Amino acid sequence: MSYKCLVLCSFLCITAAAAFSPSHGFGTPARARAAFIRSKLVPDVFTKFNPILTLGITYHVNGTALKVNLGNDLTIPETASRPLWSIPDIKVAPRFSKKTFVIAMIDPDAPSPTNTTFAQIRHFIGGGFKLEGTILRNTTPALSEYLSPGPPVGSPPHRYPTFLFLQPKNFPTTPFTTSIANFNISVYAKQVNLGPPLAGNFMLVQA
Ligand SMILES: *[C@@H]1O[C@H](CO)[C@@H](O)[C@H](O)[C@H]1NC(C)=O
Ligand SMILES: *[C@@H]1O[C@H](CO)[C@@H](O)[C@H](O)[C@H]1NC(C)=O
Ligand SMILES: *[C@@H]1O[C@H](CO)[C@@H](O)[C@H](O)[C@H]1NC(C)=O
Repeated sequence: MSYKCLVLCSFLCITAAAAFSPSHGFGTPARARAAFIRSKLVPDVFTKFNPILTLGITYHVNGTALKVNLGNDLTIPETASRPLWSIPDIKVAPRFSKKTFVIAMIDPDAPSPTNTTFAQIRHFIGGGFKLEGTILRNTTPALSEYLSPGPPVGSPPHRYPTFLFLQPKNFPTTPFTTSIANFNISVYAKQVNLGPPLAGNFMLVQA
């Protein structure tokens, strides 16, 4: 085999491995994009979403790990405590491994998907996330601490998307003082120069 062929074959192999690698139980960027469009989070939350990484979200409940996987159903008790965030496929884009990230979670369906008077609810905003292996550890206090999902009884399931961004220069460090209601992540992203989301994942929660 010639050197060129070897290089090309290795490249194809790596590309194929990335495309078909086990999804770690969190989906893949391509599946995330499709799921965000299918669930109408695109365009409800962002008009465009072209993730290049996978966002792992794991809740730990009574010794059991529960994974968020592109629209699966979780309960209010299961999502009561702040989850562990990760980038399971960081190996496909090692250029991001030393970066600092921002994580944001919102509810666009409050008080219900058909009456979004309170939307969006800000459920989490935090910067200073750095990778420890594939786990995202925050090195600075959250700007809007984790608020667990609380969809009202009688409402159809709410969508809870979480997005991962590269942390821009001069990202704020002062916690939010504004109401958690009537937040707008796309407006906020523009205000603080977040750039497009690198990854996203979401769950459905019903009371
Ligand atoms: C965890 O265990 C406690 C005690 O057994 C139980 O009351 C609770 O419902 C469990 N939580 C979940 C989410 O299953
Ligand atoms: C929407 O929800 C709010 C808050 O619960 C309520 O005050 C309002 O009447 C609702 N609007 C409609 C059209 O149901
Ligand atoms: C957020 O702001 C964008 C841009 O102004 C707007 O299109 C969108 O409807 C807003 N979303 C909410 C929930 O207010």
